[in-house]
Amino acid sequence: MTLISGPQVAEKVLAECQRDIAALKARGVTPGLAVVLVGDDPASRAYVRSKDKKCRDLGLHSVKLELPATTTQQELMDVVAKLNADPAIHGILVQSPPPKHIDEAAIVRAIDPAKDVDGFHPVNVAKLALEDPTGFVPCTPLGCQRLLMDAGIETKGAHAVVIGRSMIVGKPMAMLLMAKGPGGDATVTVAHSRTRDLGAITREADIIIAAIGRPHFLKAEHVKEGAVVIDVGINRVEDPGSEKGYKLVGDVAFDEVAPKCRAITPVPGGVGPMTIAMLMANTVKACQQSLP
Ligand code: GUN
Repeated sequence: MTLISGPQVAEKVLAECQRDIAALKARGVTPGLAVVLVGDDPASRAYVRSKDKKCRDLGLHSVKLELPATTTQQELMDVVAKLNADPAIHGILVQSPPPKHIDEAAIVRAIDPAKDVDGFHPVNVAKLALEDPTGFVPCTPLGCQRLLMDAGIETKGAHAVVIGRSMIVGKPMAMLLMAKGPGGDATVTVAHSRTRDLGAITREADIIIAAIGRPHFLKAEHVKEGAVVIDVGINRVEDPGSEKGYKLVGDVAFDEVAPKCRAITPVPGGVGPMTIAMLMANTVKACQQSLP
């Protein structure tokens, strides 16, 4: 069984970014990322802080905007319009989910698709479906694909089962795996909360991408011998013994599933670090594509 290391592959991606950033700086341009957080959800705050820190470590221009939970739709639209017009900003990310009174889809549509490093804008969703390489692909599924490729897992002709149909992970993951070329060419099944007899489907899978959002959901009985499992889950579960009172666990019951696997990602130490690394890579790409 191979343990696929997220931090190790993320380091590689970040080293590539560093090389590209140096080349851009030599041309007089520094890639800039703006991260917008509305409200004070603790998990979102932690994500936004780590995105900002990673930018700074890499020498990217980073703008972190923390807006109160009372921010109106119009105020947020105005912030996005300003960032769209700012030539020092190449990437814009509005942390999801925003407070309930915000129409998130309208905010996403307001972001300039050329700066949409999350890959959530309808133009970028379409570009992914069209296999247009100028589009932006959501960071988490892009990171999962990179983990598979780096671990030497052949996706061509493989049966990949994606569990979850979200716009952030499941749907773009399925499109990436079925696209033509390296890291793609898979036969893809998308399963979700309404799927009948999930186990019968996952037991047929050569590759399982678990993006369900339920702690330790995928059990040994769901997985065939020799399967590859990528665990996208980040679930907080109570842990009275720890300092914080909680710990992070994946969607996969790692201890029982891992012994059956050819390769598997742990949580933490799997997909998480890849998401931020791919965000940096998307920001560098946005900057490169902005140049004449
Ligand atoms: N919330 C959880 N994951 C993401 C992400 O990739 N992008 C944004 N904007 N919000 C998120």
